[in-house]
Amino acid sequence: MVMTKMVPADRTSIREAADILKTGGLVAFPTETVYGLGANALNPEAVLSIFTAKGRPADNPLIVHIHDRAQLDDICEMQPRADILMDAFWPGPLTILFPRKPVIPDVVTAGLSTVAVRMPSHPVALSLLRESGLPVAAPSANRSGRPSPTVAMHVLEDMKGIIPMILDGGACEIGLESTVLDLTHESPVILRPGGVTKAMLEETLHEEVLLAGSILRPLRQDEKALSQGMRYKHYAPKGNVTLVRGGEQAVVATLRLLCRQDLDAGRKSCVLCFTEHVPMLSDCCPHDMGSIDNHAEIAHRLFDILRHFDQEGMETIYSEVIPPEGVGLAVMNRLGRAAAFRCIEV
Ligand code: TXA
Ligand code: MG
Repeated sequence: MVMTKMVPADRTSIREAADILKTGGLVAFPTETVYGLGANALNPEAVLSIFTAKGRPADNPLIVHIHDRAQLDDICEMQPRADILMDAFWPGPLTILFPRKPVIPDVVTAGLSTVAVRMPSHPVALSLLRESGLPVAAPSANRSGRPSPTVAMHVLEDMKGIIPMILDGGACEIGLESTVLDLTHESPVILRPGGVTKAMLEETLHEEVLLAGSILRPLRQDEKALSQGMRYKHYAPKGNVTLVRGGEQAVVATLRLLCRQDLDAGRKSCVLCFTEHVPMLSDCCPHDMGSIDNHAEIAHRLFDILRHFDQEGMETIYSEVIPPEGVGLAVMNRLGRAAAFRCIEV
């Protein structure tokens, strides 16, 4: 059991955090997407302790974070198209797969020949990376199977007594993890949708960008996961989430019917709905996911709401959906997985 210190991110605490990284320890820090749990990517024991802290399966590789493109030369080979993408989207929520160099330990990449790299834009993340001078391996700072943390308190919930330090930088602006892009095939493939959308990538690359098969449905048994992260039941609240899709009035009526049935049967049940529908669902313990047209707001709130369901002991949750386009694709990927892709069409 270690003492976990949660401190506001300032010059002094960032320097202390950098020292922890340099001596092989773990530090949680804010990024513009979600909080990360960092270790020196070049130190296999330090990286291994990330897997222990999270309870993460060893075959799920980590993202390496850098603050300067000059660091790439040490850790990976260049890729066609990567320069254009880095010019357009770094620093920011885009992770790119590169052929790795031997200096990156197997434990980071789960033995794969590629390494995932990202340059975050959050000033605290950049200062920490600069101060440490290291490439930092960092998954999201949650226990495996829990929603990613979007405020420091979420990290404390999951990592208290497990890691020595959490840098508190407030709420993460985006609230969903980065887009993971594989450039090692003939066409670029999005392995995980995020803040950098398919349309943004296509506009920059002037070519079609493909989506990995299992973004909006479960992986078939015979199907090979392009990214190990796709194989696990992520972002799963303890309660059963069911999505309801269809015309606006029919959806609201169905949410109400299903939730009331459960409440009347004595189950803890609620709805997850747009701000505009909260008044119509006031007797169904409505959780406000954000405004119907503001998909960035919905992305920003989603993980915090999923955590609340567990705290409140919700047994069943009925949720509205948004079109799987733009950031909506990232939202529906996470919400779909939370629901194990159970969806009622009305
Ligand atoms: O926004 C983010 O990406 C956050 C912040 C902290 O940077 N990090 C994050 O890491 O979400 P994590 O470990 O929770 O998710 C990394 C994802 C996983 O789905 C993993 O399977 C995939 O990236 N991944 C990492 N390296 C890979 C590789 N070499 N090939 C394929 N997929 C890879
Ligand atoms: Mg994660």
